Parts: sequence; C-alpha cells; structure tokens
Amino acid sequence: MANKVDSTEVRGVVVRGPNETVSIETILIPDPGPGEVVVDVAACGVCHTDLHYVQGGISDDFPFLLGHEAAGTVSVVGPGVTEVSPGDYVILNWRAVCGQCRACARGRQQYCFDTHNATQSMTLTDGTQLNAALGIGAFAEKTLVAAGQCTKVDPEAPPEVAGLLGCGVMAGLGAAINTGSVERGDSVAVIGCGGVGAAAVAGAQLAGANPIIAVDIDDRKLEGARRFGATHSVNSGDEDPVEAIRALTGGNGADVVIDAVGMPATYKQAFYARDLAGTVVLVGVPRPDMQLELPLLDVFGRGGSLKSSWYGDCLPSRDFPMLIDLYQQGRIDLDGFVSERIGLDGIQDAFRAMESGDVLRSVVVL
Ligand SMILES: NC(=O)c1ccc[n+]([C@@H]2O[C@H](COP(=O)([O-])OP(=O)(O)OC[C@H]3O[C@@H](n4cnc5c(N)ncnc54)[C@H](O)[C@@H]3O)[C@@H](O)[C@H]2O)c1
Ligand SMILES: [Zn+2]
Ligand SMILES: [Zn+2]
Repeated sequence: MANKVDSTEVRGVVVRGPNETVSIETILIPDPGPGEVVVDVAACGVCHTDLHYVQGGISDDFPFLLGHEAAGTVSVVGPGVTEVSPGDYVILNWRAVCGQCRACARGRQQYCFDTHNATQSMTLTDGTQLNAALGIGAFAEKTLVAAGQCTKVDPEAPPEVAGLLGCGVMAGLGAAINTGSVERGDSVAVIGCGGVGAAAVAGAQLAGANPIIAVDIDDRKLEGARRFGATHSVNSGDEDPVEAIRALTGGNGADVVIDAVGMPATYKQAFYARDLAGTVVLVGVPRPDMQLELPLLDVFGRGGSLKSSWYGDCLPSRDFPMLIDLYQQGRIDLDGFVSERIGLDGIQDAFRAMESGDVLRSVVVL
C-alpha cells in the first residue's frame, strides 16, 4: 500500500569539491515518488569507491552524498511500490535491474544495461541537488532509493555485516565465484587484499580453490587474507608477484588471477601470473587517466579470458539472501571484515585509516 510523509530533514555526509574534507550537512529527503522508497539507514561501510568520489575519480558532479554499502529498514514507500513495505529489513544495491533491456530479456539480469536509481534528488536545505554515491547516498540517517535497490534479507543479520554485501564484499566474493567461475581445485591469486580482495579470497575458499595466493604490499592485509582462506601470501613490495605466483603453482601461473587494486601495474601482474588459458578478473576500479599497454601477441598467444567484474556480476535478489544464509551458518566470516564501528563524524578519519592500510572496513553505525 502506498503512503506518504512530509519531506524529512536528516544528517548526511557530503563532499563539495575534489579532495575537500567531507562535512555533515542537513539533507532534505523528498517524499518518495512512484517506484521510490525511503530507507532508515542502520549501517553503511566505507568503501574505497567513496574515496574515489572524493578525489573526483568517478565524476565531476559535486556535491556528492557519500556512502553506498548499507543495510536498513524501509520507512516509507511511494505509489505503486510492491517489492517492499515499511518495516522490511533490506540491503541496498546499486544495480536495480530493469527487466526489459536486451541483457534482461535474455535472462542475464546481472548484466542489465539499464539499471536505475530514484528519480528525484535529495538536496541541501538551499535546494542544491546532491548526487548520491552509486545512486544510494547512505552516509545519512535516511536515504531515497528506487524500490528495486532494496533486497530483503533476514533481519537477524546485524546491519553492519549485512550492509557490506551491498558493495565491496559482494564485489569480491562475486569476482571469484561469478565472474571468475572459480571451481574446486582451481588455483587462484588475488592482488590487493583490502575489503574487496579479502572477499575474493573468501569467495575462492568457498568455491574450494587451492592454492589461494594473496598478494599485497602491506603485510597486515596479507595476514588478514590468511584468515579468510589464503593458503599463501606474497608481499609484492618485496618480491616479484608474477614469479612468486608461478613458483607456487608448479611454474605455471594460477587458473584465475583477480586484480582487486585496478592499476595498469597490477593488471599486468595478473595478466602474466595466470596460467595459459587462465582467467584475469579486474574488480578494482581504474582512474579515468589510466592506460594499459600489452603486447597483442601475448593477449592472443596466452589464450583464456580477460574479464571485468561489475559488482561481482551479482544478482542481488539471488545472491544477498543466499550469502546471508551462508554467514548465519558460519560458512562466510562476514564479521571479520568489520574493523571498526564509527559515527557519521568519523568518515574523514576512516578515509585516512583506509589509505594507511589500518582497516579492512570502517562501518558507520547509525
Ligand atoms: N568492481 C566493483 O564492483 C567494485 C566494488 C567495490 C570496490 N571496487 C574497487 O575495488 C578496489 C579495492 O577496494 P577496497 O575497498 O578493497 O580498497 P582498500 O583500500 O580496502 O584495499 C586496497 C588494497 O590494495 C592494496 N594495494 C595497493 N596498491 C597495491 C599494489 N600496487 N599491489 C598490491 N596491492 C596493492 C592495498 O594495500 C590495500 O590492501 C577499489 O578500486 C574500489 O574502487 C570495485
Ligand atoms: Zn535490464
Ligand atoms: Zn563500494
């Protein structure tokens, strides 16, 4: 049933220009229109993509309302919304599928070419329109999204854990399981073991991969990756990761190598550290100015596939409830990703902690 409330003022975290310090501002949330939903945010993780937004690496459309890795409770639904009702506990997703584009029509909704967000914008009190990070904007007490961005899950799952499936952890798990199609006995290497890469390690373990080689330039991240299932670790600041991965795979290279950093240098490492006919999965997001140069003969001669992984090629309606089940059965350690719980006023510090490698995930709890 559709219902309405007056526009609501809440607190949200905004960045006004490239590399500016974030600030807590009063945000105006409009009444939900057709197909829209207002969600009371319970928790939202700090993802590296939020930092890319701050740095102007995603778009120039400042100001941004940051935060996109969230769980919460539906508070109000707009006209015509049937997917969710007030009171539903949901994880927010940034790929609400259209059901009609050529990908959806072929039953490949995870590749939907026409995903959507709320039609209306949230604003500052002076009317300035805010661009919500990945169409979510959940470093705020409430946010406005499209109904299809809400995926219902078991309310017993704590929000600071469930929310992580809304972006980085899903991207990493899916990079291994969905995009990389990792199977039992496959050798896997993951380059960059932050939140996304550690989740890729966890995904490889879930799929039964062996060995699972974690690569990072920070020993703390390598230690963390071992907790998520890495059987070996390589500090690529100290040794050549391509040689090390080959040495750990009988001289051949890994069946699947996942680049969870997203730089030309790490991509080349992934490219040459995989076995012939192996798979490279790029899940780290490159900056717009980055270029890749590879001998085309090597691209041809080594065979296999070079894939990129948007959101771990997930289908939220299929994957979120399934992964919450696995978490509740103790088969995925989602708690292990939560390094610290912070307030809305802790986000600038959380970016610093992310850059200095002190955390896997800082999670804002509201
Ligand atoms: N594809 C998607 O859908 C998706 C979703 C979420 C995040 N991402 C992207 O994934 C990437 C990782 O995100 P995150 O939240 O895990 O970030 P993070 O900051 O938590 O982790 C990055 C990790 O990479 C390591 N690293 C940096 N340079 C390296 C190098 N040269 N070699 C090896 N390791 C290196 C760091 O030490 C750190 O452990 C970002 O680019 C982010 O934007 C992509
Ligand atoms: Zn579609
Ligand atoms: Zn993210």
